Amino acid sequence: MLTSKLTRRYRAAQKILTARKQGHLLRFWDQLDPIARGPLLDQIQALDFDQLDPLILTHVLAKPDKIVPANITPAPFFPRQPAPDQQDFYKRAHRLGSEAISQGKVALLTVAGGQGTRLGFDGPKGAFCISPVRNKSLFQLFAESLLANQRRYQRQIAWYIMTSPTNDRQIRDFFAQHDYFGLSPDSVCFFTQGTLPAFDFDGKLLLAAKDSLALSPNGHGGTLLALKSSGCLDKLAHDSVQYLSYIQVDNPLVSVLDPVFIGLHIADDSEISSKSLPKIDDLERVGNFCTSDGKLMVIEYSDLPDDLAHAHNPDGSRTFNAGSIAIHVINVDFVQCLTQTGSSLPYHRAEKRVAFIDAEGLHIEPADPNAVKLEMFIFDALPVAAKSIVFETDRPEEFSPVKNAMGPDSPRTCRRDMIRRAARWLRLAGIELPHNPQGEPACTLEISPLFALDTDEFLARNPQLPPIKMGDRVYIE
Ligand code: UTP
Repeated sequence: MLTSKLTRRYRAAQKILTARKQGHLLRFWDQLDPIARGPLLDQIQALDFDQLDPLILTHVLAKPDKIVPANITPAPFFPRQPAPDQQDFYKRAHRLGSEAISQGKVALLTVAGGQGTRLGFDGPKGAFCISPVRNKSLFQLFAESLLANQRRYQRQIAWYIMTSPTNDRQIRDFFAQHDYFGLSPDSVCFFTQGTLPAFDFDGKLLLAAKDSLALSPNGHGGTLLALKSSGCLDKLAHDSVQYLSYIQVDNPLVSVLDPVFIGLHIADDSEISSKSLPKIDDLERVGNFCTSDGKLMVIEYSDLPDDLAHAHNPDGSRTFNAGSIAIHVINVDFVQCLTQTGSSLPYHRAEKRVAFIDAEGLHIEPADPNAVKLEMFIFDALPVAAKSIVFETDRPEEFSPVKNAMGPDSPRTCRRDMIRRAARWLRLAGIELPHNPQGEPACTLEISPLFALDTDEFLARNPQLPPIKMGDRVYIE
């Protein structure tokens, strides 16, 4: 009975694959253990060829033109420190943001579905241990920041975490093993993003094994559809959550709920807002906030024409200086609106190395890019919004991501920046620190988010510490 059902499913899959010129996906069927056959058919059945075939034509067999509008100008942004005539507006924003959080209108959203290939850590990136003294994981630091916010605003705040089919189980287990880091388990909602197959340059889907397709997460832009398909969007609306504070999993310095940012978003009627940073150099590998025909957009560093990347204003400042760091506030009803028709954000093509099974059944680890992966990017939602604002933040206070195993944006630079920030807060509090000839703190410092979330809170708590000596390891909680 079971076998005949499987055979029927096999024949149906074979028919579809042959029509779509992907018949090779079943070429090892006869060699497969019967237990492995069902899951392979499940994967094949989940493929939406009406969506994939046009994408293969436009994004795999061809390289889509990257059209940068001719009339782009630098995007306006709210400065970190308000100008004298903005001070009242920022105070109002702070009040509005704080009220929205206290009233339960804001949830935290972390995208954690990425593969973290550059870091090369064996596990979900959120489980990577980063804090300089206690070696806390990224997830623990965000959880403690959320707990501190719950204490500050005197209420439970929901945390939505996007996983991928590959790391979902590991992430859920990680939270369970650590008792949700003190959070209430019912305040943490995991949801899983969609996947897309990897293609060879002839548009054929790749097999990762004889019994499974090479699938990868569909990009952080997949968050919007995943919120809908998982039912989280309905839950958010049911719980009267109106705003999502969107952060990536790799930046432990991020302010998980920034009342001023949230308040500016509300006060300005924005549908999706973004934080920016002044770029370090003309060609820094971050997206550029630009406007064209009144629409805000992010132009990737690789797409910004050279003359614009190097353009400077008469006063010497860089013309396109606002870099995107993937911190957003997003309206829940904007997500509802965008996903109503089930249509997605545009796809971006990336040529990557993807291990695969060749026609002889051999496992190949390619040395060079051999495949096309397609991903959606969250910032493609910006030009679709009726209103979208940018708020500048401060790099040493808020941004030091863990992307690479070594070099820039690595665990080493991130821990260094965490220590530097702690040192700055301590010095502001009048506490003397040993330093080396380069001016770097000559001690290892860590301030728990549960002690203070920002400079003001740190100073208000008036920390009292014994003298700190060269080489000391100091944890403040
Ligand atoms: P990155 O662009 O840094 O990609 O993701 P990555 O997959 O984590 O790392 P590499 O490129 O393989 O080294 C930025 C953020 O977006 C999330 C990541 O988890 C990270 O928080 N992301 C990325 C997803 O949630 N899903 C995706 O499909 C891609």
